[in-house]
Amino acid sequence: MELETIICSSARHLNLEPSISYTTERFSNGEENVEIKDSIREKQVLIVQSFSKNPAGDLMELIIMIDAVRRSGASKIIALIPIFPYSRQDRRHSSGTPVSAKIVCDMLNIVNVDRIITFDLHADQIQGMINSRIQFDHISTRMFLSFHLQKKYKDLSNWVFCSPDAGSIKRTKALGGKLESKDYCIINKVRSSANVIESMEVIGDVKNRNVVIVDDMIDTGGTLAKAIKVLKENGANNVIVVATHGILSGNVYKNLKNQEVFITDSVAVDSDKFTDVNVFKLKHFIISIKNRIVNNIPLGSLFDYWNE
Ligand code: R5P
Repeated sequence: MELETIICSSARHLNLEPSISYTTERFSNGEENVEIKDSIREKQVLIVQSFSKNPAGDLMELIIMIDAVRRSGASKIIALIPIFPYSRQDRRHSSGTPVSAKIVCDMLNIVNVDRIITFDLHADQIQGMINSRIQFDHISTRMFLSFHLQKKYKDLSNWVFCSPDAGSIKRTKALGGKLESKDYCIINKVRSSANVIESMEVIGDVKNRNVVIVDDMIDTGGTLAKAIKVLKENGANNVIVVATHGILSGNVYKNLKNQEVFITDSVAVDSDKFTDVNVFKLKHFIISIKNRIVNNIPLGSLFDYWNE
């Protein structure tokens, strides 16, 4: 199967090759505008977009790109979005709040995308918000992360894997399991508002142990800075942090200064500012997804094995 590729503006850092000609521009007021220059009639098209410091603009660019591709006569449109935007707003935390992840799903449905591929969703239930007409592939990067961590640390089987909140327990156990660790702990985190944590307590034993904190994303680093502090107060030795999505905004550079952090480049990283960050590049992982689509191979094998 032939698959044309379009790389939207915020996915350029992934260094993937587009296969057709198109433009992405902005009007002077900031409105996104795109144009497909080649014929894609009856072709299958993969559109890759990530989400940067301007997630609303990035989302809009993706939406209008899908629309442009649909109106140009493509037979099938696959959106590969390594990080799913607005995924932290997956339910109503209190009255008066929106479910923004559902709105994103509805927008993708309205422009008639056929398939969505994303990595390490903040919350599994977002899959249920997508219209069942759309094929939804939620890919775990645990094999990708464990491959790269093993290259650096060789053996993490004696480390305690720590979930910094209830939402990360499944991914923490999955990654710890792949790295042959049997020990894990959970931090009971209570938030007072978005990005503000009220309290944290460690459930599990970390005394004199090395700890790997596993999260889906690092935004301001507030969660992790507090988690590291509370782990140290509970007697942990070395603490490292692994997260799939490095959003890295606000005070993150201050919050995680001198802290060893491992992330992927699902979001472009400003590594000049954040020197302690180790970035695992997703390029080959995404190329391998594309090859599997082209050759009609299930993506599930990526859950069991990764090498590059
Ligand atoms: C929260 O539920 C997420 O999994 C992350 O822990 C959180 O969004 C990270 O945000 P920050 O780095 O601003 O604490």
